[in-house]
Amino acid sequence: MPPESSYSRKNPFLGTLGVNRRLTGEGSNKETRHLEISLAGSGLRYEVGDSLGVFPSNDPGLVEMLLKRLGFSGDEECSLDAEGTSCPMRGALTRHFTITSPSRQLLQAVVEKDSSAAFLAPILDPASMPHLEKFLRGRDILDVLEEFPAVKFSPEEFTGVLRKLQPRLYSIASSQNAIGDSVHLTVAVVRYSVGHSPRPRGGVCSTFLAERSNGEIPVFVHSAKHFRMPENPETPLIMIGPGTGVAPFRAFLQERKAAGTAGFSWLIFGEQHAETDFLYREEFESALADGTLTKLTTAFSRDQDHKVYVQHRMEEEGAEIFAQLERGACFYVCGDAARMARDVDAALHRVIEVHGGRTPEQANEYVDAMKKDKRYRKDVY
Ligand SMILES: Cc1cc2nc3c(=O)[nH]c(=O)nc-3n(C[C@H](O)[C@H](O)[C@H](O)COP(=O)(O)OP(=O)(O)OC[C@H]3O[C@@H](n4cnc5c(N)ncnc54)[C@H](O)[C@@H]3O)c2cc1C
Ligand SMILES: NC(=O)c1ccc[n+]([C@@H]2O[C@H](COP(=O)([O-])OP(=O)(O)OC[C@H]3O[C@@H](n4cnc5c(N)ncnc54)[C@H](OP(=O)(O)O)[C@@H]3O)[C@@H](O)[C@H]2O)c1
Repeated sequence: MPPESSYSRKNPFLGTLGVNRRLTGEGSNKETRHLEISLAGSGLRYEVGDSLGVFPSNDPGLVEMLLKRLGFSGDEECSLDAEGTSCPMRGALTRHFTITSPSRQLLQAVVEKDSSAAFLAPILDPASMPHLEKFLRGRDILDVLEEFPAVKFSPEEFTGVLRKLQPRLYSIASSQNAIGDSVHLTVAVVRYSVGHSPRPRGGVCSTFLAERSNGEIPVFVHSAKHFRMPENPETPLIMIGPGTGVAPFRAFLQERKAAGTAGFSWLIFGEQHAETDFLYREEFESALADGTLTKLTTAFSRDQDHKVYVQHRMEEEGAEIFAQLERGACFYVCGDAARMARDVDAALHRVIEVHGGRTPEQANEYVDAMKKDKRYRKDVY
């Protein structure tokens, strides 16, 4: 056994970015990227199914705009924790605090400092969460400060109402047994615009990974014991991975290939357009050709006049899905939690009802038994 690494969430390793390549083609609505980060020298080990934690830095352009609006030079010394660690304001806003979404405390301070913001007071009540969420949709801290230009903060007051910048998790898209001291990620870059402002908006970590890391990325391994591959390499795999949800399944296939095992494996992948969004197409096609992947089914949602999603393919292929479940298949789902995972779960129940001749209650019991046997595993976000 290699010695345990000294790197962790509390002590992240500075990984080196090697490859940073766009996976989606010209004309796609998505910017999804393949990243390769070297872990050489860290001693970090991960298993397929794990995620990588990434500590991002904020956009320096946004930091400068905030400093200007607040009248700060950026050199003001700011306290970072109760232990007395401090650093200059510019660095604090870049690496230590969330400067995008406003905290409740920041809004509370704005209400206290400017009577014209009094209308915000009722939505700051924890019972009014939906109203607060509605107000915050598409509004960042700079927007709020610009809406209330009379509001002034001292440096200490300002950092006192900011939240700590949190790391983000990304499903690991590689097997260490196949690629060694490196880790691969599949990242959908969050970019959007808001109606009330010409300033382009971006997700903190996905844009950091895409364009601002300067090749150095603070990382840690986040273990996902609930999302391991089955112990028996012959266990059939059914993998539902639309969009970036495909990432851990690329790792599963690398792992099976590295181990030289070839149990039945079926990937059901979905994205918008086959032409531009078929992530890792060549790799999956060669895995099919060499037998690592037994079956590949795709659902391109926008290549016809009606939506086709992974759960529609599951229902079309219901007889085979049920047959594999009866053979003991493990059913995996990764990707969007809000809509996809719920709809896939409903489709799984329908497949069991239609092709297993079960009542809805019996299908519930069947799915519960799969969960109990760890044959229904999800990693959704
Ligand atoms: C276990 C796990 C695994 C994950 N694996 C992956 C993965 O493999 N690949 C991957 O890409 N992501 C993955 N994620 C998601 C990832 O962790 C981040 O949440 C994602 O990259 C966004 O982070 P960000 O910092 O770029 O965006 P943030 O700065 O966190 O911003 C996101 C926020 O922007 C706002 N927003 C976004 N779009 C709009 C819009 N159109 N209008 C208004 N507001 C908007 C929303 O408030 C949204 O919550 C995973 C998450 C988890 C928990
Ligand atoms: N909660 C949300 O509203 C929302 C929306 C988008 C993305 N996201 C998040 O954005 C991140 C990246 O997303 P991504 O680029 O990996 O892929 P994604 O947005 O999940 O899209 C991948 C594919 O899934 C389809 N899809 C949409 N709704 C679906 C449903 N209910 N069931 C099955 N498939 C569905 C999409 O089709 P269409 O695009 O044609 O509908 C697309 O073809 C994830 O973190 C995801 O959770 C969240």
